[in-house]
Amino acid sequence: MHIDHIGIAVKDIKAATETYSKILNSAPTKTEVVETEKVETVFFQTGESKVELLGPTDDDSVIAKYVNKKGEGLHHVAFEVDDIYAELDRLRKEGFTVLNDKPKDGADNKLVAFVHPKDNHGVLVELCQTKK
Ligand code: CO
Repeated sequence: MHIDHIGIAVKDIKAATETYSKILNSAPTKTEVVETEKVETVFFQTGESKVELLGPTDDDSVIAKYVNKKGEGLHHVAFEVDDIYAELDRLRKEGFTVLNDKPKDGADNKLVAFVHPKDNHGVLVELCQTKK
């Protein structure tokens, strides 16, 4: 497993994109709206990992609710796996709370699923697998 990306929840995706373009001194490599989640994602490549900015496209988006409750900041850490189904089974057997019955379509051509932060010392963990 390696860290595929870290997800950062932001209020204003345009402002955050400008900020991270300055921090990383590079332009984003990908922008994508995930309609089902009402989220706009902006990716920056940083070595073999990425930074994923997550901004709401609607007031009732999960990210809008998150930012209203907890403020902007680190939202999740995503680990890339070869077989997301097998890894989710393994984690369920280990007693982790997987938040998705089965992996769902995420940004960046990935299948994704999340593990509850209460089981991960406060960090929302995403597992992701590139769709083949
Ligand atoms: Co992510």
